[in-house]
Amino acid sequence: MASLEENTAAIAVGADHAGFPLKAELCSWLADEGRRVIDLGTTGRESCDYPYFASAVAREVASGRAGKGILVCGTGIGMAVAANRHQGIRAANCNDLFLARLSREHNNGNVLCLGARVIAPQLAKEIVQTWLTTPYQGGRHQLRLDMIEELASP
Ligand code: RB5
Repeated sequence: MASLEENTAAIAVGADHAGFPLKAELCSWLADEGRRVIDLGTTGRESCDYPYFASAVAREVASGRAGKGILVCGTGIGMAVAANRHQGIRAANCNDLFLARLSREHNNGNVLCLGARVIAPQLAKEIVQTWLTTPYQGGRHQLRLDMIEELASP
């Protein structure tokens, strides 16, 4: 079961133009579900650059102002690549339920990346729901997460 802190922590959300409609739908759904949402844009369908929004969400999560982040672009790939350049961020591109569950249980993922050109809104909501409510398993997985930090290039 998710802790109270996990349920009340803010979720930072960002998207580029390709992800904007899905982000809008996810933001209003999350708010309806009683989640605290920090919407960091974009605010329309005009073409824009995903690294800017990935960085904004990653900074919000890395600083602790948000407990988790959700990023949406066309595929989820660019967002994940960009967000993972930030210290303390474990972003995973999860366009199915299995990946969403495992990215929490094994990788303690703190940023979920979605592809608006890959999945339908209903599946995206199910992925978000799974990802937000699946706990990290720790144990042997923590040793591997520690290794990632130790082995990273300076
Ligand atoms: C934008 O056309 C697209 O490249 C972007 O949304 C994303 O899919 C990048 O990974």
